[in-house]
Amino acid sequence: METEVIIVNDDNLEEAAKKAAKFIVDGEIIGLPTETVYGLAANVYYSDSVRKIFRVKGRPHDNPIIVHVSDFVMFNDVAEINERATGLARVFWPGPLTMVLKKKPAVSALVTGGLPTVAVRMPSHPVALAVISAADLPLAAPSANMSGRPSTTTAQHVIDDIGGKIPLILDGGNCEVGVESTVISLVGEHPVILRPGIISLERIREVLPDAVYADSVFSEVNDSEPAQSPGTKYRHYSPRAEVVVVKGSLAQFTKYVSERAGDGVCAMCFDGEQDEISIPSVSYGKEGDGVSQARRLFVVLRMIDKLGVVRLFVRAPGQSGESTAVFNRLIMASGFKVVEL
Ligand code: TXA
Ligand code: MG
Repeated sequence: METEVIIVNDDNLEEAAKKAAKFIVDGEIIGLPTETVYGLAANVYYSDSVRKIFRVKGRPHDNPIIVHVSDFVMFNDVAEINERATGLARVFWPGPLTMVLKKKPAVSALVTGGLPTVAVRMPSHPVALAVISAADLPLAAPSANMSGRPSTTTAQHVIDDIGGKIPLILDGGNCEVGVESTVISLVGEHPVILRPGIISLERIREVLPDAVYADSVFSEVNDSEPAQSPGTKYRHYSPRAEVVVVKGSLAQFTKYVSERAGDGVCAMCFDGEQDEISIPSVSYGKEGDGVSQARRLFVVLRMIDKLGVVRLFVRAPGQSGESTAVFNRLIMASGFKVVEL
């Protein structure tokens, strides 16, 4: 199949959104930008389209898909809205926050991976909002990457992964956030962050003071226990290179990697540190600045593959605030190989 790519700007937004919506209403799936990462979008109510998503991505069927809405009528059609949800939506929507709530019957088990809950978010990207509104339907949309690979933050990434398998990609430039939305479950006793994102626990607690992180944010989930968020149990965000996350000072890191130099060995460090490091290196944002690290993370992990790197040593980001999201993606990319110096 030939994949058409439309570069979207203010002038053609309406026309491009209409075209994308027509594909979706006709049962096709398309690539579109959101403020976090690119998504692969389908009519949530049409099972054949949702099946296409799983097929194109090579996604395991028990990994549920986020439903994207553009207004509260759609939200109410798919989920049992509770008070916590209303409170969070008031502050963070539209934006990079996904809420897990009891699902409404209209949402099929195919979308939710058989769970009684549904994950919903209202994205803030004007292209995503315009497509949802034009289709007048909630859209099921996972990240637009092959399953297990780093998410896509440019239209070129989407072409690299699934070009030729979908009819249309809307190109909205680079995604501003760069990592996927914060996923928070609002169905248990406490609100639980299942996947950290750029909306940090600290900010969520300003609205819901009893919110906590799930254990799986910082460590491997035990396979014998049912995962709260099935997506967290699969190897994720992985470049082809072996990834090792290294905690310690810059001086310790520099020494550690110089002792492990070799063909295809590369370091991933913070901006301005490359001169200090004796092996080839790439930088991924400012030290202590999770927002800048998030924006670069997947671009750099994908570049690593293009460069043919076989072993990557990464300077560990912090584990609080926005950096938590970056730390979480990196330990998952590494298969939980973390070295503490
Ligand atoms: O920023 C984002 O969230 C992007 C853009 C495209 O919106 N989407 C995204 O989708 O990252 P995906 O499919 O790559 O990740 C969805 C995550 C998975 O970890 C999945 O397990 C979890 O959300 N999830 C979905 N439905 C769930 C549910 N009912 N309960 C618990 N976790 C759920
Ligand atoms: Mg994904």
